[in-house]
Amino acid sequence: RPQQHRLACAAQLTAEQQGCRTDIDWDSLGFGLQHVGETMWMATCSADGKQWSSGELLPYGPLPMYPSAQALNYGQAVFEGMKAQRSAKDRIVLFRPECNAQRMHEGALRLSMVPPPEELFIEAVTKTVEANAALVPPQGKGSLYLRPLLVGSGPILGLGPAPSYTLVVYCAAVGAYFKGGQLTPIDLIVETRFHRAAPGGMGGTKCAGNYSPVLVTQLAAKKEGYSDVVYLDAKTDTYLEEVSSCNIFVVKGKTIRTPPLQGTILPGVTRRSIIEMARSRGYTVEEVPVSVDEAMQADEIFTTGTAVVVSPVGSLTHQGERRQFGAPGEPTPVALELYEQLTGLQQEKLADPFGWIVPV
Ligand code: COI
Repeated sequence: RPQQHRLACAAQLTAEQQGCRTDIDWDSLGFGLQHVGETMWMATCSADGKQWSSGELLPYGPLPMYPSAQALNYGQAVFEGMKAQRSAKDRIVLFRPECNAQRMHEGALRLSMVPPPEELFIEAVTKTVEANAALVPPQGKGSLYLRPLLVGSGPILGLGPAPSYTLVVYCAAVGAYFKGGQLTPIDLIVETRFHRAAPGGMGGTKCAGNYSPVLVTQLAAKKEGYSDVVYLDAKTDTYLEEVSSCNIFVVKGKTIRTPPLQGTILPGVTRRSIIEMARSRGYTVEEVPVSVDEAMQADEIFTTGTAVVVSPVGSLTHQGERRQFGAPGEPTPVALELYEQLTGLQQEKLADPFGWIVPV
Protein backbone atom coordinates (compact mmCIF):
# COMPACT_ATOMS: atom_id res chain seq x y z
CA ARG A 1 0.00 0.00 0.00
CA PRO A 2 2.64 2.64 0.90
CA GLN A 3 4.41 1.64 -2.32
CA GLN A 4 1.24 2.19 -4.36
CA HIS A 5 0.71 5.53 -2.67
CA ARG A 6 4.25 6.58 -3.49
CA LEU A 7 3.84 5.58 -7.16
CA ALA A 8 0.60 7.53 -7.44
CA CYS A 9 2.29 10.58 -5.92
CA ALA A 10 5.30 10.42 -8.24
CA ALA A 11 3.03 10.43 -11.30
CA GLN A 12 1.29 13.54 -10.04
CA LEU A 13 4.38 15.65 -9.46
CA THR A 14 4.88 18.57 -11.83
CA ALA A 15 7.96 18.70 -14.04
CA GLU A 16 9.43 21.29 -11.68
CA GLN A 17 8.72 19.16 -8.62
CA GLN A 18 10.44 16.24 -10.36
CA GLY A 19 13.53 18.43 -10.73
CA CYS A 20 13.23 18.90 -14.52
CA ARG A 21 14.08 22.03 -16.46
CA THR A 22 11.14 24.35 -16.82
CA ASP A 23 12.24 26.00 -20.09
CA ILE A 24 11.60 22.91 -22.24
CA ASP A 25 8.31 21.84 -23.81
CA TRP A 26 8.48 18.23 -22.65
CA ASP A 27 5.49 17.26 -24.80
CA SER A 28 7.25 17.90 -28.07
CA LEU A 29 10.54 16.03 -27.77
CA GLY A 30 11.88 14.43 -30.94
CA PHE A 31 15.04 12.40 -31.45
CA GLY A 32 17.84 14.91 -31.94
CA LEU A 33 20.28 17.31 -30.34
CA GLN A 34 17.77 20.11 -29.68
CA HIS A 35 18.19 19.58 -25.95
CA VAL A 36 21.76 18.39 -25.65
CA GLY A 37 23.27 17.97 -22.17
CA GLU A 38 25.54 20.85 -21.20
CA THR A 39 27.96 18.49 -19.51
CA MET A 40 29.83 15.55 -21.02
CA TRP A 41 32.22 13.08 -19.45
CA MET A 42 35.64 12.21 -20.88
CA ALA A 43 38.61 9.97 -20.14
CA THR A 44 41.67 8.96 -22.15
CA CYS A 45 43.98 6.00 -22.27
CA SER A 46 47.29 5.10 -23.89
CA ALA A 47 47.46 2.21 -26.33
CA ASP A 48 48.89 -0.21 -23.78
CA GLY A 49 45.57 0.07 -21.92
CA LYS A 50 47.39 0.22 -18.59
CA GLN A 51 46.14 3.54 -17.34
CA TRP A 52 42.83 5.18 -18.09
CA SER A 53 42.81 8.78 -16.87
CA SER A 54 40.31 9.41 -14.12
CA GLY A 55 37.38 10.71 -16.14
CA GLU A 56 36.21 14.29 -15.84
CA LEU A 57 33.05 16.22 -16.45
CA LEU A 58 33.49 18.95 -19.04
CA PRO A 59 31.25 21.40 -20.88
CA TYR A 60 29.76 19.70 -23.97
CA GLY A 61 32.02 20.76 -26.83
CA PRO A 62 34.54 19.72 -29.51
CA LEU A 63 36.98 16.89 -28.84
CA PRO A 64 40.69 17.67 -29.10
CA MET A 65 41.87 15.56 -32.06
CA TYR A 66 44.44 15.86 -34.81
CA PRO A 67 43.34 15.33 -38.42
CA SER A 68 45.56 12.26 -38.21
CA ALA A 69 43.40 10.73 -35.45
CA GLN A 70 43.03 7.02 -36.20
CA ALA A 71 39.24 7.16 -35.90
CA LEU A 72 38.97 9.88 -38.55
CA ASN A 73 41.23 8.09 -41.00
CA TYR A 74 40.79 4.38 -40.40
CA GLY A 75 37.58 4.17 -38.38
CA GLN A 76 38.41 2.97 -34.89
CA ALA A 77 35.12 4.07 -33.30
CA VAL A 78 32.42 2.18 -31.41
CA PHE A 79 29.44 3.66 -29.64
CA GLU A 80 26.51 2.76 -27.44
CA GLY A 81 22.96 3.99 -27.07
CA MET A 82 21.34 3.99 -23.62
CA LYS A 83 18.50 5.75 -21.88
CA ALA A 84 18.08 7.21 -18.40
CA GLN A 85 14.46 7.66 -17.38
CA ARG A 86 12.63 9.25 -14.50
CA SER A 87 10.60 6.44 -13.00
CA ALA A 88 7.31 6.11 -11.15
CA LYS A 89 9.34 5.70 -7.97
CA ASP A 90 10.47 9.31 -8.41
CA ARG A 91 14.06 8.40 -9.17
CA ILE A 92 16.28 8.20 -12.25
CA VAL A 93 17.07 4.75 -13.55
CA LEU A 94 19.18 3.06 -16.21
CA PHE A 95 18.27 -0.10 -18.11
CA ARG A 96 20.80 -2.97 -18.14
CA PRO A 97 23.85 -0.68 -18.39
CA GLU A 98 26.21 -3.64 -17.94
CA CYS A 99 25.00 -5.02 -21.30
CA ASN A 100 26.15 -1.86 -23.03
CA ALA A 101 29.48 -1.98 -21.20
CA GLN A 102 30.00 -5.57 -22.36
CA ARG A 103 29.01 -4.81 -25.94
CA MET A 104 31.44 -1.89 -26.07
CA HIS A 105 34.13 -4.19 -24.69
CA GLU A 106 33.53 -6.76 -27.45
CA GLY A 107 33.36 -4.10 -30.17
CA ALA A 108 36.60 -2.53 -28.94
CA LEU A 109 38.40 -5.88 -29.17
CA ARG A 110 37.03 -6.48 -32.69
CA LEU A 111 38.52 -3.15 -33.77
CA SER A 112 41.81 -3.64 -31.85
CA MET A 113 40.97 -0.79 -29.49
CA VAL A 114 41.52 -0.53 -25.74
CA PRO A 115 38.22 -1.45 -24.05
CA PRO A 116 37.32 0.65 -21.03
CA PRO A 117 36.85 -1.39 -17.82
CA GLU A 118 33.17 -2.02 -17.06
CA GLU A 119 33.35 0.01 -13.81
CA LEU A 120 34.73 2.99 -15.70
CA PHE A 121 31.99 2.74 -18.31
CA ILE A 122 29.28 2.59 -15.62
CA GLU A 123 30.88 5.48 -13.74
CA ALA A 124 31.01 7.54 -16.96
CA VAL A 125 27.35 6.97 -17.70
CA THR A 126 26.22 7.53 -14.11
CA LYS A 127 28.17 10.78 -13.72
CA THR A 128 26.83 12.06 -17.04
CA VAL A 129 23.26 11.41 -15.89
CA GLU A 130 23.86 13.02 -12.49
CA ALA A 131 25.41 16.10 -14.08
CA ASN A 132 22.50 16.48 -16.49
CA ALA A 133 19.71 15.30 -14.17
CA ALA A 134 17.49 18.31 -14.89
CA LEU A 135 17.43 17.22 -18.54
CA VAL A 136 15.95 13.81 -17.77
CA PRO A 137 12.35 14.36 -18.93
CA PRO A 138 9.42 14.13 -16.53
CA GLN A 139 8.13 10.62 -16.03
CA GLY A 140 6.60 9.19 -19.18
CA LYS A 141 7.60 12.14 -21.40
CA GLY A 142 10.80 10.72 -22.85
CA SER A 143 14.31 9.94 -21.74
CA LEU A 144 17.84 11.21 -21.50
CA TYR A 145 19.59 9.42 -24.37
CA LEU A 146 23.19 8.63 -23.52
CA ARG A 147 25.81 8.20 -26.17
CA PRO A 148 29.02 6.57 -24.89
CA LEU A 149 31.63 6.79 -27.63
CA LEU A 150 35.04 5.13 -27.75
CA VAL A 151 37.40 6.48 -30.39
CA GLY A 152 40.96 5.82 -31.43
CA SER A 153 41.75 9.49 -30.94
CA GLY A 154 45.54 9.37 -31.14
CA PRO A 155 47.36 10.24 -34.39
CA ILE A 156 48.79 7.61 -36.74
CA LEU A 157 49.72 7.43 -40.42
CA GLY A 158 50.62 3.83 -41.20
CA LEU A 159 47.69 1.47 -40.75
CA GLY A 160 47.64 0.33 -37.13
CA PRO A 161 45.81 0.85 -33.86
CA ALA A 162 45.70 4.36 -32.39
CA PRO A 163 48.37 5.27 -29.84
CA SER A 164 45.64 6.59 -27.51
CA TYR A 165 41.90 6.33 -26.95
CA THR A 166 39.13 8.60 -25.74
CA LEU A 167 35.95 7.50 -24.02
CA VAL A 168 33.34 10.23 -24.02
CA VAL A 169 29.71 10.24 -22.96
CA TYR A 170 27.33 12.96 -24.08
CA CYS A 171 23.57 13.07 -23.81
CA ALA A 172 20.35 14.67 -25.05
CA ALA A 173 16.72 14.66 -23.97
CA VAL A 174 14.75 12.67 -26.55
CA GLY A 175 11.28 11.48 -27.41
CA ALA A 176 10.08 9.15 -30.17
CA TYR A 177 12.63 8.10 -32.81
CA PHE A 178 10.41 7.79 -35.86
CA LYS A 179 8.35 10.66 -37.26
CA GLY A 180 4.74 10.22 -36.24
CA GLY A 181 5.32 9.28 -32.60
CA GLN A 182 6.20 6.24 -30.58
CA LEU A 183 3.53 3.72 -31.49
CA THR A 184 2.75 4.95 -34.99
CA PRO A 185 3.42 2.00 -37.30
CA ILE A 186 6.38 2.40 -39.65
CA ASP A 187 6.49 1.50 -43.34
CA LEU A 188 9.46 -0.62 -44.37
CA ILE A 189 10.79 -1.69 -47.75
CA VAL A 190 13.06 -4.67 -48.33
CA GLU A 191 16.41 -3.52 -49.72
CA THR A 192 17.40 -5.61 -52.71
CA ARG A 193 20.52 -3.81 -53.99
CA PHE A 194 22.81 -3.29 -51.00
CA HIS A 195 23.65 -5.41 -47.98
CA ARG A 196 24.33 -4.10 -44.51
CA ALA A 197 26.87 -6.74 -43.50
CA ALA A 198 28.60 -9.87 -44.74
CA PRO A 199 29.52 -13.07 -42.87
CA GLY A 200 32.83 -12.58 -41.09
CA GLY A 201 32.47 -8.80 -41.31
CA MET A 202 31.51 -6.14 -38.81
CA GLY A 203 27.70 -6.37 -38.74
CA GLY A 204 27.60 -7.58 -35.14
CA THR A 205 29.66 -4.66 -33.88
CA LYS A 206 28.23 -1.30 -32.91
CA CYS A 207 30.92 0.52 -34.81
CA ALA A 208 30.41 3.96 -36.33
CA GLY A 209 31.23 2.59 -39.78
CA ASN A 210 28.06 0.48 -39.91
CA TYR A 211 25.77 3.47 -39.77
CA SER A 212 26.71 5.55 -42.80
CA PRO A 213 26.63 2.93 -45.57
CA VAL A 214 22.92 2.50 -44.77
CA LEU A 215 22.16 6.13 -45.53
CA VAL A 216 22.16 5.80 -49.31
CA THR A 217 19.32 3.26 -49.13
CA GLN A 218 17.55 4.84 -46.19
CA LEU A 219 17.43 8.29 -47.79
CA ALA A 220 16.18 6.83 -51.09
CA ALA A 221 13.48 4.88 -49.22
CA LYS A 222 12.45 7.97 -47.27
CA LYS A 223 12.05 9.90 -50.54
CA GLU A 224 9.51 7.27 -51.56
CA GLY A 225 7.61 7.63 -48.29
CA TYR A 226 9.06 4.68 -46.35
CA SER A 227 10.37 5.02 -42.80
CA ASP A 228 13.39 2.78 -43.38
CA VAL A 229 14.67 -0.35 -45.15
CA VAL A 230 15.10 -3.99 -44.07
CA TYR A 231 18.31 -5.68 -45.19
CA LEU A 232 18.56 -9.25 -46.44
CA ASP A 233 21.42 -11.67 -45.79
CA ALA A 234 24.39 -11.16 -48.11
CA LYS A 235 24.80 -14.86 -48.95
CA THR A 236 21.38 -15.82 -50.25
CA ASP A 237 19.29 -12.62 -50.40
CA THR A 238 16.55 -14.61 -48.69
CA TYR A 239 16.52 -13.93 -44.97
CA LEU A 240 15.83 -10.75 -43.01
CA GLU A 241 18.79 -9.23 -41.19
CA GLU A 242 17.86 -5.94 -39.59
CA VAL A 243 16.64 -2.41 -40.21
CA SER A 244 19.22 0.42 -40.41
CA SER A 245 18.77 1.38 -36.77
CA CYS A 246 17.00 -1.57 -35.12
CA ASN A 247 16.40 -5.33 -34.93
CA ILE A 248 13.34 -7.02 -36.40
CA PHE A 249 10.78 -9.56 -35.09
CA VAL A 250 8.07 -11.46 -36.99
CA VAL A 251 4.92 -12.76 -35.24
CA LYS A 252 2.67 -15.67 -36.21
CA GLY A 253 0.12 -16.68 -33.60
CA LYS A 254 1.99 -17.17 -30.32
CA THR A 255 5.34 -17.68 -32.05
CA ILE A 256 7.78 -14.83 -32.47
CA ARG A 257 10.86 -15.23 -34.64
CA THR A 258 13.89 -13.03 -34.97
CA PRO A 259 17.13 -13.47 -36.97
CA PRO A 260 19.87 -15.25 -34.98
CA LEU A 261 23.09 -13.57 -33.86
CA GLN A 262 25.65 -14.94 -36.28
CA GLY A 263 27.86 -11.90 -36.53
CA THR A 264 25.94 -9.99 -39.19
CA ILE A 265 23.31 -8.30 -37.04
CA LEU A 266 23.55 -6.10 -33.99
CA PRO A 267 23.14 -7.89 -30.64
CA GLY A 268 20.58 -5.37 -29.42
CA VAL A 269 19.98 -4.95 -25.69
CA THR A 270 16.30 -4.32 -26.40
CA ARG A 271 16.26 -7.35 -28.73
CA ARG A 272 17.60 -9.54 -25.95
CA SER A 273 15.19 -8.07 -23.40
CA ILE A 274 12.15 -8.52 -25.65
CA ILE A 275 13.11 -12.16 -26.26
CA GLU A 276 13.27 -12.81 -22.51
CA MET A 277 10.15 -10.80 -21.76
CA ALA A 278 8.06 -12.41 -24.53
CA ARG A 279 9.07 -15.89 -23.35
CA SER A 280 8.05 -15.00 -19.80
CA ARG A 281 4.64 -13.98 -21.17
CA GLY A 282 4.03 -17.36 -22.82
CA TYR A 283 5.26 -16.70 -26.35
CA THR A 284 7.54 -19.13 -28.11
CA VAL A 285 10.51 -17.08 -29.28
CA GLU A 286 12.84 -18.56 -31.87
CA GLU A 287 16.14 -17.08 -32.98
CA VAL A 288 16.15 -18.57 -36.47
CA PRO A 289 16.56 -17.32 -40.03
CA VAL A 290 13.34 -15.60 -41.10
CA SER A 291 12.73 -15.48 -44.85
CA VAL A 292 11.23 -12.43 -46.46
CA ASP A 293 8.41 -14.67 -47.73
CA GLU A 294 7.63 -15.70 -44.16
CA ALA A 295 7.64 -12.06 -43.10
CA MET A 296 5.18 -11.16 -45.86
CA GLN A 297 2.80 -13.86 -44.50
CA ALA A 298 3.21 -12.94 -40.81
CA ASP A 299 0.46 -11.70 -38.51
CA GLU A 300 2.61 -8.76 -37.54
CA ILE A 301 6.15 -7.43 -37.51
CA PHE A 302 7.86 -5.08 -35.10
CA THR A 303 11.32 -3.62 -34.61
CA THR A 304 13.30 -3.06 -31.41
CA GLY A 305 16.18 -0.86 -30.33
CA THR A 306 17.17 1.56 -27.61
CA ALA A 307 16.21 4.53 -29.74
CA VAL A 308 13.10 3.01 -31.37
CA VAL A 309 12.03 1.01 -28.25
CA VAL A 310 9.39 -1.30 -29.80
CA SER A 311 8.01 -0.03 -33.09
CA PRO A 312 5.11 -1.74 -34.87
CA VAL A 313 5.56 -2.20 -38.61
CA GLY A 314 2.49 -1.02 -40.53
CA SER A 315 3.60 -2.30 -43.90
CA LEU A 316 6.36 -4.25 -45.60
CA THR A 317 7.04 -3.82 -49.31
CA HIS A 318 9.08 -6.34 -51.29
CA GLN A 319 9.62 -6.27 -55.07
CA GLY A 320 6.56 -4.08 -55.60
CA GLU A 321 4.26 -6.12 -53.37
CA ARG A 322 2.99 -4.32 -50.25
CA ARG A 323 1.69 -6.14 -47.19
CA GLN A 324 -0.29 -4.17 -44.62
CA PHE A 325 -0.25 -5.26 -40.97
CA GLY A 326 -3.19 -4.30 -38.77
CA ALA A 327 -5.41 -1.28 -39.26
CA PRO A 328 -3.67 1.74 -40.83
CA GLY A 329 -2.18 3.97 -38.14
CA GLU A 330 -2.94 1.51 -35.33
CA PRO A 331 -0.25 -0.45 -33.44
CA THR A 332 -0.51 -4.22 -33.84
CA PRO A 333 -1.38 -6.17 -30.65
CA VAL A 334 1.82 -8.07 -29.82
CA ALA A 335 3.99 -5.00 -30.47
CA LEU A 336 1.68 -2.96 -28.27
CA GLU A 337 1.68 -5.54 -25.48
CA LEU A 338 5.48 -5.84 -25.45
CA TYR A 339 5.95 -2.08 -25.73
CA GLU A 340 3.73 -1.53 -22.71
CA GLN A 341 5.42 -4.25 -20.70
CA LEU A 342 8.91 -3.05 -21.54
CA THR A 343 8.30 0.66 -20.98
CA GLY A 344 6.22 -0.12 -17.86
CA LEU A 345 9.19 -2.01 -16.45
CA GLN A 346 11.69 0.64 -17.57
CA GLN A 347 9.65 3.38 -15.90
CA GLU A 348 9.07 1.26 -12.78
CA LYS A 349 5.32 1.32 -13.28
CA LEU A 350 5.50 -2.47 -13.42
CA ALA A 351 7.57 -4.92 -11.41
CA ASP A 352 11.07 -5.82 -12.60
CA PRO A 353 11.34 -9.59 -12.10
CA PHE A 354 14.48 -9.71 -14.25
CA GLY A 355 16.55 -7.24 -12.22
CA TRP A 356 17.16 -4.98 -15.24
CA ILE A 357 16.65 -1.62 -13.55
CA VAL A 358 19.67 0.17 -12.10
CA PRO A 359 18.98 3.35 -10.12
CA VAL A 360 21.42 6.19 -10.70
C1 COI B 1 20.18 3.15 -30.58
O1 COI B 1 19.10 2.59 -30.79
O2 COI B 1 20.49 3.54 -29.47
C2 COI B 1 21.14 3.38 -31.66
O3 COI B 1 22.29 3.53 -31.37
C3 COI B 1 20.68 3.47 -33.06
C4 COI B 1 21.03 4.81 -33.65
C5 COI B 1 20.91 4.76 -35.13
C6 COI B 1 20.18 5.90 -33.10
